[in-house]
Amino acid sequence: MRLFIAIDIPDDLKKMIDSLRADIPGARWVRQEQIHLTLAFLGEVDEPASELLIAELARIRLPEFKLCFSGTGCFPHRRHPRVLWVGLEPQPYLNILAAEVREAALVCGISQEERSFTPHITIARLSLSHSPELDLFVERNKALKHPQFTVHNFILYQSRLMSQGAEHIPVRSFPLNAVATVT
Ligand code: 2AM
Repeated sequence: MRLFIAIDIPDDLKKMIDSLRADIPGARWVRQEQIHLTLAFLGEVDEPASELLIAELARIRLPEFKLCFSGTGCFPHRRHPRVLWVGLEPQPYLNILAAEVREAALVCGISQEERSFTPHITIARLSLSHSPELDLFVERNKALKHPQFTVHNFILYQSRLMSQGAEHIPVRSFPLNAVATVT
């Protein structure tokens, strides 16, 4: 199974993100229902390792926390964009959660990128180089913010590659309920 771990975004905010769509050459926009915040990409994982992983993820004890969007940008660079994203205001618990999730993967023998975690929500994948429309989009959404939303859980997803694109199937949800919500 091809797996990844992510935070789902409330439906109204997915809708808001989806409404940002603009005419950017070479942009393949993420379908509204698939908008998520990736914590860790696991790739192909066999059944025994995925069972072990579920047990490890279930041991994570963290409080619910709040997130807030913060502008848009590109990876790896505005001049050579591949991914267009919505950023997030710094939230230490998000980084702690990503680190714990990645540690759980490593414990199960699932290798993880050395690259540090950069919180983002991918909204489009770009196949053409930098364009004035892209610059305009990033400029226009610089001040993008939204009332905070609370993260209640994180989810292990299966990604099934279909002819019409990937399908994301929730495998297991893990609650964040160690103590009171942190702002
Ligand atoms: P992204 O949010 O940074 O784009 C599900 O496929 C998620 O896993 C994607 O949203 C993507 O994260 C991440 N992903 C997919 N393929 C990947 C790969 N080969 N390496 C790292 N992350 C990947």
